[in-house]
Amino acid sequence: MAYETIIVEIEDYVALIRLNRPDALNALNSKLMGELSEALTAADGNDNVRCIIITGSEKAFAAGADIKEMSEKTFVDVFGDDMFAAETEAVTRVRKPIIAAVAGYALGGGCELAMMCDFILCADNAKFGQPEINLGVVAGMGGTQRLTRFVGKSKSMDMHLTGRFMDAAEAERCGLVSRVVPAKELIAEAKKTAAKIAEKSQITVLAVKESVNRAYETTMREGLLFERRVFHSLFSTEDQKEGMAAFLEKRSPQFRDR
Ligand code: HXC
Repeated sequence: MAYETIIVEIEDYVALIRLNRPDALNALNSKLMGELSEALTAADGNDNVRCIIITGSEKAFAAGADIKEMSEKTFVDVFGDDMFAAETEAVTRVRKPIIAAVAGYALGGGCELAMMCDFILCADNAKFGQPEINLGVVAGMGGTQRLTRFVGKSKSMDMHLTGRFMDAAEAERCGLVSRVVPAKELIAEAKKTAAKIAEKSQITVLAVKESVNRAYETTMREGLLFERRVFHSLFSTEDQKEGMAAFLEKRSPQFRDR
């Protein structure tokens, strides 16, 4: 499938989706958001994909929603078509794991897109921010909610109220990203991480993603019950028998995703 604003490569069960609007630091316009949600939905339904990586360029993951496209819109325009709501829903509906591989700027909607992924690997030149306040608006793709849950109220308020940028070291320290790697190694590291996920039982992978996401969507008590029931249910799979037998026989498991 040929896209205009993203590049999709599928290799060794990993779909690498690269945001590709270099002249605008990968600003998220409606074309890009439409193509991204289409590519993610296709990857989710493709048996040759077990893990997805979203990345940008070395200079920018994405510098936010496209300000040129947005600037003249009215309340009726953005409320009427619920700007980017359907596209962001499409990202969060994906059942397979999505890794955000962030180098350079991840600002506004770019930071929010990274936070919609399952985890963020970042390069040492990454800069995260929610600078919408400088444009006279607030975050609109989840920033006030997700950043607050990820880094706590104090830092989230600081970021949203001042519009300042956070560097990679601070992002790792406060738990926004899982790991920081040298910029030159970012894609290789993301692919290596995705390959590791791709070799697991894919039934278990889906169960892990659903279970961890529950932590953000329900009470502790309900979340713990959900996790326990998922744990119990996995004893009905061949992969549980294989995984435990392989451990006891001191060999690598051969999962068959059933
Ligand atoms: C449109 C953008 C853009 C954006 C950069 N560009 N960000 N175009 N929308 N968000 C364009 C610039 O206009 C410029 O094009 C080119 O990319 C290079 O950018 P420069 O500003 O020249 O680069 P630099 O000086 O290195 O500064 C980089 C930067 C700055 C710090 C990232 O570009 C910046 O502050 N961008 C805006 C960040 C932002 O406010 N994001 C939040 C958007 S609101 P030309 O043609 O001039 O060369 C948002 C809300 C989401 O995301 C909610 C949606 C529902």
